[in-house]
Amino acid sequence: YRLSKVLVTGGAGFIGSNLVDQLVEDGDQIVVVDDLSMGLKENLPDSPQVTFYQHSITDHGFMRQLLIDARFDYIYLLAAVASVADSVARPYQTHQINQEANIYILEVLRKQQLPVKKVLFASSAAVYGNNPELPKREDSTIDPLTPYAIDKFATERFVIDYGRLYNLPTVAVRFFNVYGPKQNPKSPYSGVLSLITQAARHHSSFTIFGDGSQTRDFVYIQDVIQALRLLTKNNPVIHQVFNVGTGKHISLNHVIKVYEQLIDYQFKLISKPERTGDIKHSYANISRLLSLGYKPRYTIESGLKLYWESIK
Ligand code: UD1
Repeated sequence: YRLSKVLVTGGAGFIGSNLVDQLVEDGDQIVVVDDLSMGLKENLPDSPQVTFYQHSITDHGFMRQLLIDARFDYIYLLAAVASVADSVARPYQTHQINQEANIYILEVLRKQQLPVKKVLFASSAAVYGNNPELPKREDSTIDPLTPYAIDKFATERFVIDYGRLYNLPTVAVRFFNVYGPKQNPKSPYSGVLSLITQAARHHSSFTIFGDGSQTRDFVYIQDVIQALRLLTKNNPVIHQVFNVGTGKHISLNHVIKVYEQLIDYQFKLISKPERTGDIKHSYANISRLLSLGYKPRYTIESGLKLYWESIK
């Protein structure tokens, strides 16, 4: 585990910066590349182990030189246009960031024969789209419906099959509904738990789309970090995709009830019609990850408690 050189693209974002915190604790040397379009510099720990470049991953010259100079052991590809709505508004730019830039990184690794130990790409449960099959297995039918989901799926296949073809140790993960500290609630398309948390913090109203009976696989950020480390450090698994969730589904109504008890507060709820394109239920089959020793440790209660304490 000691003194690995690690690249985290999107390292100033929600998931990336939590990963960086963990890698610092692991004793790694970390390089973060983030254009701060969504991420925040303050998310990064002030540590001599972390080097930060405010830069877009779409800059080929920069990325190429960085990869050649640094010779990373581990590469986490987390930089992305993370908002689905944003991808619908800017499909071509999204494609350049979410797909093209990542393929270019693989291409540099291949061409320069750089000795990387593992490349991990972050994909999304969005690839399953409206496929009603539950729980979602990695081999369930996919149905990517937005530029975001299309690019995530295509890049995931690229990362895995490129790995197979050119002997690069790659894996991909499909995140379900991740929540926790440092999640950016700024956009109205932020994850629902960050929006609820904002509402509680500012005593503002919270809008429920639909009747609140929709369910999601809400996974606390530290369980996600556990999964990311499991799939990279000292793990021989390659060329596979893994769902990252808890394997459980919880309704929005239940979340609200739990949160109200936890913080002794009553939400000001507004009811609006179901959001177009929303799916009713979603949760992961996580047996693939479980077989590697993954164990989700946080319940919605313990996760929300930590999240709430982090923002107070
Ligand atoms: C996530 C994506 C979404 C994408 C979908 C594809 C995020 C933030 N959203 O949606 O863009 O299309 O995966 O799998 O990554 N809700 C409310 N009030 C709010 C916000 C949300 O009631 O203010 C509801 C939504 O209507 C939804 C549920 O909460 O039913 C969860 O919403 P969200 O956090 O956006 O996640 P997904 O629906 O899974």
